[in-house]
Amino acid sequence: MTESEPENDFVEIGRKLFAQNCEFIWAADKIGGLPPMGPVEVAFAGRSNVGKSSLLNALTGRKTLARTSHTPGRTQQLNFFALGPDPQAPLLRLVDMPGYGYAAVSKEKISNWTRLMQDFLRGRASLARVFVLIDGRHGLKEVDREMLKRLDQAALSYQIVLTKRDEVKQAQVDKTIEDAKAVLRTHPAAHPDVIFLSSHKGEGLAELRASVARLLFERDRTIFQPAQIG
Ligand code: GTP
Ligand code: MG
Repeated sequence: MTESEPENDFVEIGRKLFAQNCEFIWAADKIGGLPPMGPVEVAFAGRSNVGKSSLLNALTGRKTLARTSHTPGRTQQLNFFALGPDPQAPLLRLVDMPGYGYAAVSKEKISNWTRLMQDFLRGRASLARVFVLIDGRHGLKEVDREMLKRLDQAALSYQIVLTKRDEVKQAQVDKTIEDAKAVLRTHPAAHPDVIFLSSHKGEGLAELRASVARLLFERDRTIFQPAQIG
């Protein structure tokens, strides 16, 4: 593939990438408990209950890979999943993060999660992008803006993903995307594209998979040799 290959190719590569074997490999609940760096990682962050774990399941087509819940605060650790034919040497790691902005857990827990998150986001060379999930019904909140600032400070690549599109009226979809893009204009480090998806209905998943595939390709062009992913 060359740099001039159309975006369509990344949709197809993304589809194949996420059709690979995927398994849970590691949970970190304290600083210093992170897995050794190695494969490229992409992480899913966002407020509690925004749909991070559901998205991981939808992307990989596995209903129960990551635990989801109607009540916020379900994911309490950094959960690492290996994607690729060989879990020991995966093509990619997916990282499901605990949610932020959830007031109904103890201060101690919140401070632990925050430190864990910051520890992970700081100085993790293998972390290629953080997808910041925003509930598409509500748009960006103050805690989300704080998260974006933190990502700016950590000099990480990040991209906004709006969730629960199935619950948003079509007329509101474009406006919500425009509003998010307006916020991003004040964050030059952010990826300018905004994806609005539904894990329940599947809309937008192909676009996100393509975005991850492109990212991997940009990091390591040998990764998509037919033997690895064909
Ligand atoms: P924490 O781990 O608590 O931070 O939450 P999370 O961000 O991992 O959210 P989770 O995936 O557990 O989903 C929270 C709720 O949102 C569940 O009730 C899901 O069914 C619901 N949800 C997730 N994705 C979608 C979606 O695409 N559409 C709709 N309508 N609901 C969704
Ligand atoms: Mg979760």
